[in-house]
Amino acid sequence: MRIHVLGSAAGGGFPQWNCNCHNCYGLRHGKIQATARTQSSIAITTDDRKWLVVNASPDIRAQLESFPELQPHRGLRDTGIGGVVLVDSQIDHTTGLLTLREGCPIDVYTTAMVKQDLSTGFPLLNILSHWNGGVRHHELAIDGGPSHLNGFPDLRLTAVPLNGKAPPYSPHRHDPHAGDNIGLFIEDLTSGGSVFYAPGLGGLTDAVVEYMLLSDCLMVDGTFWREDEMIYAGVGTKLAKEMGHLPQAGQGGMIELLRRFKDQRKILIHINNTNPILDENSPERAKLVKEGIEVAYDGMDISIANPSYLSQPIAQGEM
Ligand code: MLT
Ligand code: MN
Ligand code: ZN
Repeated sequence: MRIHVLGSAAGGGFPQWNCNCHNCYGLRHGKIQATARTQSSIAITTDDRKWLVVNASPDIRAQLESFPELQPHRGLRDTGIGGVVLVDSQIDHTTGLLTLREGCPIDVYTTAMVKQDLSTGFPLLNILSHWNGGVRHHELAIDGGPSHLNGFPDLRLTAVPLNGKAPPYSPHRHDPHAGDNIGLFIEDLTSGGSVFYAPGLGGLTDAVVEYMLLSDCLMVDGTFWREDEMIYAGVGTKLAKEMGHLPQAGQGGMIELLRRFKDQRKILIHINNTNPILDENSPERAKLVKEGIEVAYDGMDISIANPSYLSQPIAQGEM
């Protein structure tokens, strides 16, 4: 399995268009060592031809232009995108679908809750129905079973419900439901490689820990360094937990939680522009290096295989 990071920033991107925080100012004016990042999305393939895009960011047009493998190669109108999975109904993960309208019908996979949000409070799916019938929607199971993906016979995707809030425009914003936010456990059934992807992770439930332990690679919430980061940076009023994100620092923070995952490659993704880890010379970044935790960047390309799996015969019924 190969994963290509299309966008590694949280909502707003880095730098954010209206922001003069230490990082955004520093990047624009060459005062810090850092790299610009677009908004949250990854693409996954097992054959280097057809890609499953996870989250459709508002920056998807630029992301596709920067990655030739997703561009049209086989016909007058074509794409390397074989389907789109959404982990929630947030703006930074869904608005790219509007940009993909010329390619409808596209296979789109979401939970029932996310489908509801995108048909009511933020009716993207209704709007898209005016382009060649709109998306082909497929509901993701949230009962622990895998969900079928059209045209990706090698990939097995399991949606893992996370604690978190639906976005402000959701009809059930103040009435949380399983499936508002999910993490994804994705396995390559041929190589045995697997990844757990959760750009919004407010904390670890038993089920989340179980899937993380099964994974070869963890790509998890890198939004904030500190719980009160938005307040500390002077740009907002919300705490990390109110936004469904677990900060890296402190007791019970992501760094501490990741220490128990000794066999996994650990990568932070969905990094907010206020996070000091974006400054490559910061002590916070040095701390991550010491902990063996990587920071995702746009264009990062990750190959995951499980060598022990490849040397074992596949048990009957496992496929
Ligand atoms: C979040 O995940 O909390 C979002 O990035 C916030 C946003 O996009 O406004
Ligand atoms: Mn986000
Ligand atoms: Zn900023």
